[in-house]
Amino acid sequence: MIGVVISGTGDVSNKHYKAITSTTHGKLLGVCSRDAKRAEEAAKKWHTKAYGFDEMLKDPEVDLVVICSSDDEHYRQSIKALEAGKNVIVEKPPALNLRELVHMVKLSKDKKVQLFPVHNYIFRPRILQVKQMLDKGEIGEVTYAFFSLIQRMPEERAKRYHGAFLTQAYHQIYLSNFLLGLPEEITAMSSIITYKEVKMEELAVSMFKYKNGAVANIVINWCLNDLSTHSWLWLEKILGTKGVITVSALDDYSYHEDIPYLAAIVLGYPYSFINYQKHVIDDVLAEKKKPLISAYDAVIVLDMIDKLKNCANKGKVIKYKPPSLEELIKQYKLG
Ligand SMILES: NC(=O)c1ccc[n+]([C@@H]2O[C@H](COP(=O)([O-])OP(=O)(O)OC[C@H]3O[C@@H](n4cnc5c(N)ncnc54)[C@H](OP(=O)(O)O)[C@@H]3O)[C@@H](O)[C@H]2O)c1
Repeated sequence: MIGVVISGTGDVSNKHYKAITSTTHGKLLGVCSRDAKRAEEAAKKWHTKAYGFDEMLKDPEVDLVVICSSDDEHYRQSIKALEAGKNVIVEKPPALNLRELVHMVKLSKDKKVQLFPVHNYIFRPRILQVKQMLDKGEIGEVTYAFFSLIQRMPEERAKRYHGAFLTQAYHQIYLSNFLLGLPEEITAMSSIITYKEVKMEELAVSMFKYKNGAVANIVINWCLNDLSTHSWLWLEKILGTKGVITVSALDDYSYHEDIPYLAAIVLGYPYSFINYQKHVIDDVLAEKKKPLISAYDAVIVLDMIDKLKNCANKGKVIKYKPPSLEELIKQYKLG
């Protein structure tokens, strides 16, 4: 049995709650919140116990802390949980900067516990199928790929987040890395078009080039919802020399739940959390299988985002070489 506690009581905590209860080996032991009343309410709803965060860390029954709190809490809560010897699942972005994330990864290694970033888009049923098709060469050699998320992010909500690169392109970057491998060259452009107060990008377009010459685009546009017939709302398209794969979220646009953003109501979305939790809890923690994702994957994503933001709108194309963890530990004087 893997004893699990959820930290946070928002929309995504609820997705993880449902996913944890779908696992074979996970047992939800409780929920933490920065607000005792919210913890009590969530505990009642999920038939579990309300904990204070520090009290929860002292409980030897807790093996895994699932951090679904707001972005600016991820680092602080992860460090505390890792210090206490707990395995950690941390929502995206796992930290607000690369230094914080490298600190978290190093601590997990020092404490011999596991740190799993929530790279749930990989675990959508169709994406797992696409990965198998690509690995078998079913569409030949990849020549071009397109990843988009076109949904309105109201300015009030965007104030709680950290721009289209870190909040949204984060997902598409780990997804493209998973499906296509790492690019050799990267560049980007970004804009603020409708926001009046938020100073972070609401449009972020990245372009990657791979070793064989293939190119990919990642298009994040928070200015509107694309509900047109051939929608780019949430689209993955991969062009090979022998075939094309298209995964459009609107193909299964029928899941109804009261969630404040459109992309969350597609059918593959809840399954991305269910398959993710089954993989981490059942396959990796309980059955000791090799994880499909690692904390270093998240390090690469944050490093790529830093570089994309640095070159955005400057007409610069950067040769991309992923830094090793050892280099980063040295660079940030964490050794
Ligand atoms: N993987 C994905 O697909 C995905 C999708 C969306 C978001 N996320 C990430 O998941 C994390 C949580 O996002 P979310 O959509 O669940 O955000 P949210 O609904 O705004 O909740 C965030 C946190 O705010 C606190 N909260 C809940 N209700 C509140 C209220 N009425 N007043 C004040 N605070 C309240 C809760 O933490 P406490 O109870 O501890 O205070 C909650 O965990 C974020 O880091 C986000 O980037 C991931």
